[in-house]
Amino acid sequence: MKLVGYGNRWSVAPGETIRFMVSAEVPSYEAVIVRLIHGDTNPAGPGFKEERVPGAIEGSYLGRTQTYPSGSCVLVPSSPDFDLDATAPMTLRAWIWPTTPGDRAQGLLTRWDESRWAGYAVALDETGALAFWTGDGQGGIGRATTGVPLRAFAWYLVEAIYDPAAGSVSLSQQPVVAWPRDETAARTTAETGVRADSAGLPLVMAAWCGGDGERPPMAGHFNGKIDGPTVERGGATVAVWDFAADIGSARVTDASGRHHHGVAVNMPMRAVTGHNFSGREVCFRLAPDEYGAIFFHDDDLEDAGWEVDFAFPVPADLPSGVYAARLRAEDAEEYIPFFVRPPKGTTTAPVAVLLPTSTYLAYANEHITWRNPDSPVPHDPLDFLEPADHYVVAHRLMSAYDHHADGTGVAFSSRLRPVLNLRPKYRTALLRAPQHFAADLYLTDWLEATGHRYDVLTDDDLHAEGVDLLRSYKVVLTGNHHEYWSGAMLDAVEAYLAGGGRWMSLTGNGYYWPIGIDPARPHAIEIRRGRNGTGTWRSATGEDYLETTGEPGGLWRDRGRAPQKLVGVGMAASGFDAGLPFQRTPGSFDPRAAFIFAGVGDEPIGANGLMMGGAGGLEVDRADAALGTPPHALVVATVAGFSDSYTRAVEEVTQADGTQGGTMDPDVRGDMVFFETPHGGAVFAAGSITWTSSLSANGYDNPVSTITGNVLRAFAAAEWPP
Ligand SMILES: [Fe+2]
Repeated sequence: MKLVGYGNRWSVAPGETIRFMVSAEVPSYEAVIVRLIHGDTNPAGPGFKEERVPGAIEGSYLGRTQTYPSGSCVLVPSSPDFDLDATAPMTLRAWIWPTTPGDRAQGLLTRWDESRWAGYAVALDETGALAFWTGDGQGGIGRATTGVPLRAFAWYLVEAIYDPAAGSVSLSQQPVVAWPRDETAARTTAETGVRADSAGLPLVMAAWCGGDGERPPMAGHFNGKIDGPTVERGGATVAVWDFAADIGSARVTDASGRHHHGVAVNMPMRAVTGHNFSGREVCFRLAPDEYGAIFFHDDDLEDAGWEVDFAFPVPADLPSGVYAARLRAEDAEEYIPFFVRPPKGTTTAPVAVLLPTSTYLAYANEHITWRNPDSPVPHDPLDFLEPADHYVVAHRLMSAYDHHADGTGVAFSSRLRPVLNLRPKYRTALLRAPQHFAADLYLTDWLEATGHRYDVLTDDDLHAEGVDLLRSYKVVLTGNHHEYWSGAMLDAVEAYLAGGGRWMSLTGNGYYWPIGIDPARPHAIEIRRGRNGTGTWRSATGEDYLETTGEPGGLWRDRGRAPQKLVGVGMAASGFDAGLPFQRTPGSFDPRAAFIFAGVGDEPIGANGLMMGGAGGLEVDRADAALGTPPHALVVATVAGFSDSYTRAVEEVTQADGTQGGTMDPDVRGDMVFFETPHGGAVFAAGSITWTSSLSANGYDNPVSTITGNVLRAFAAAEWPP
């Protein structure tokens, strides 16, 4: 990828400005703003469609490369309190839980500048043993080590006591759980020999400085937890950091009274169990004294922090829609999408499309599906990789589906970095078709092709503004995979429906996972996967609760908010071989549903589709009165008869006995439902991810298009019932 970039925001209104950051391995590139209509290049469909938006940013820009400051740590400002060469011995101590000891040298408590070999560091050396280094910045280095590697995923109390009078350091590493024959406990005392020049260096936890300057690059990142770091001099406390005090924020508080407060960089995971976790409680709010740890990773990344290359002030008359900055140079092309919403408090159409930006973010730079050797698809995804796929692995960009280097799940995802799968034309190696953002352009294309005016809104807007965002729309349509919801977003939809709003839920596996958002860091979402659900990792014991909000993670259905209560259907099954058409049910002949099927006979509904070849597929949702489907909801169509590639969702399986496949389990199916809500509101739920990929078949003349159009026209009308 010779061109990669990101915007400082995803949602923007006319009159506001979006800034673009670009890394280019070419001398220059051309930039233009385009409106995106259809994002799939598949010749079986309408093909790629975009429209140039003439404007001031159009032109040529100089290329430059920008880099990723990945890796989390804590920075504490420099202080003479942390200088070694005083009169009394200095002690640096912490509990640590290393997860990749021996991978390479990793910083624990450091004032170390790698570029000059200056300062001092308590670290794990390249073998994974506790070490202490001093450097004078003139080439002299003193190294002491216990010579005994620590075990991974085990708690240790580690300590370094520097004695300036003797010029020596005593190192100790003691496992918290002391087993007989454990040979990883070690103590040693060694001369350091070299003076530590740490002048001006910050005190860093879980990394060290890779240079100096205002915003030094960081290096030597530690994978693992640190708990209760302390600095003492001559028996007096200099600093003692309480990581439990500021859970959910980037603040790090020094409880010593000496104000050596710090800041956590790149969103390391907090609200994680500490060295003394007992299981007495499993929520950090109920036992904060057992949650004094921070979990650091060398691939955490909150903000790439790139320099701005150009900015686009959105003109007052630019229609709401999906747009992108398109960059081109030589054979390179990059799209940086963004969403233009109407100005706050206004609407420009009776119809709104709510695009699932929280789900885009959860999947941002996802690569586990094709790196998984047990891929569930019949083809080998490795044969269908795109340059973007290689790029995310080479630059260690993580989604909330991927795993850190130590195998633990990624809990945060930020949009202040390039998102390589948020682009038109992109096809996932898993499906060999668009998913997520590019697949949501099936809907915008159909709206344009069939003459429906629409506003574009995002999850970001809904979370921030609640029901006020939706209130003036006659009807709101969702994305094709609208999976991640904050409590505020769900509250807004409930209030919209209670007030007479009409909701077209065009998603499969929707309304599924809770997310947390820290108001001070609205560019990132947090996910704790808890104990249950279709995902790629589980939370560790005691780490189910969202640090940003204190709420339980896991599934919304396990918190009394099953999707069936909201839209009539919820996650039933997923599969990867093929999509199938829906068939009408007796409920579809109820007079209440007549408007939905005007012009539709009893032919299969969605026998073609650009994703998986059918309108019912990938993930399908079913009605279930026990989970809250309203009693008057009509199931108007069903897709069933899947192969055993489709299996029942794990949260519905109490005993895995070989009967969960599509050929055996009658609940491996998708239901399409319709029901009325108070004050003239209504819900239509398609119950499948691939529904909208069938809209354009046969020149937009097909049952999926007819049904979607019938519902949209009726829902947008003033008179009700239709
Ligand atoms: Fe999903």
